[in-house]
Amino acid sequence: MFQHLETLPADPILGLNQTFLKDDNPDKINLSVGVYQNAQGQTPIFTAVKKAEQELIDAQLTKTYAPQAGDPTFLNQVSRLLIGDTLVDELGDRLEAVMTPGGCGALRMGAELLVSTGFKGKVWVSDPTWANHFPLLQSAGLSLTTYRYYDEATNGVNFEAMMEDISNIPEGDIVLLHGCCHNPTGADISSEQWDQVISVLQERNLVPFIDVAYQGFGEGLDEDAYGVRTAVSKLPEVLVANSCSKNFGMYRERTGVIMVVTENGRQTQAAKSHIMSAARRCYSMSPYHGAGVVGHLLNSPQLTAEWKSELNKVRERMNRLRVGLAEGLNAAQSRINFDFVSRSNGMFCYLGIPQADVLTLRSEYGIYLLESTRINVAGLSEDNLPVIVERVTEVLTR
Ligand code: LMR
Repeated sequence: MFQHLETLPADPILGLNQTFLKDDNPDKINLSVGVYQNAQGQTPIFTAVKKAEQELIDAQLTKTYAPQAGDPTFLNQVSRLLIGDTLVDELGDRLEAVMTPGGCGALRMGAELLVSTGFKGKVWVSDPTWANHFPLLQSAGLSLTTYRYYDEATNGVNFEAMMEDISNIPEGDIVLLHGCCHNPTGADISSEQWDQVISVLQERNLVPFIDVAYQGFGEGLDEDAYGVRTAVSKLPEVLVANSCSKNFGMYRERTGVIMVVTENGRQTQAAKSHIMSAARRCYSMSPYHGAGVVGHLLNSPQLTAEWKSELNKVRERMNRLRVGLAEGLNAAQSRINFDFVSRSNGMFCYLGIPQADVLTLRSEYGIYLLESTRINVAGLSEDNLPVIVERVTEVLTR
């Protein structure tokens, strides 16, 4: 049966991380996969998460199945964190949420839902987008194409081109938007630009599918939710895939949620039933532990306050590092003006260096960034920053 099976190429992000782990260069630096690292190069568990986890385990009396849609406390709290209390109350039964295995699970369940409606149009994604959007959504049966987004000349969003493309998308199609902290470029649209995008979606009867994987990593928990909140307040139908991997540091616990807003409660219940049916077909129901921990944390005002303060520190440190990188590189060379690095948002940005230099940095110095030149800003540290500045400058000015 398997004699004709060829080994597939490794995933561009997870595969590169594996290559990094196997590299025996003692000075290697990992700027590949999107994982936060502290000054010691570790990915610590948030203190508030650890406390919530302990309390949950101590109180837990059973491992019987959780409700198939997921832990109700988690679903309620995480919806309120993203969408906000007022809007959640206003939406009422137009909004439903189902727990998923991480953000990937949420994207997949959203895709399964779209396929189950008989949707035959296209899903429009930004050019570029997260490397896994294509395989993940296409393998569910969706057809993907791109709208213009990133401008390599300015290292920012080409908003005019984005609007022009979105204004020409056929009615009824799906537009995938990054809720905040665009992956891979770190170039986000402003609140005013979100308003304009959502007006076009409204005029053209386009449905947004918003991928939120970094709430709190950009400008703040509420600021990063602006696009989602505006979309659900203005539009009849919205899908949101939300991940707790990064902002709660729950990477391996696979904690996420798919949220669906439709025109009314009946349609939303129908949509939810299709999501749960798709989950049953694929994995029956999502793992509970991470969702239990996040739900317990968000249900406690004290733990929530502690987590928010830790999250703020993470964001501020990433911001200091990105500014440090930009200033260091600008001081060390004049070939590229790296100011755009300090303007980027969240975990990632493009470095915009020649691709050959990316490969040289990897092979000669064990500095790993994606071939697109995406770096994980959270992989920078006070210690490795001077080394990175020196090596990038050396390679750039050879
Ligand atoms: C990334 O983009 O590095 C992260 O979202 C991790 C992943 O699964 O790709």
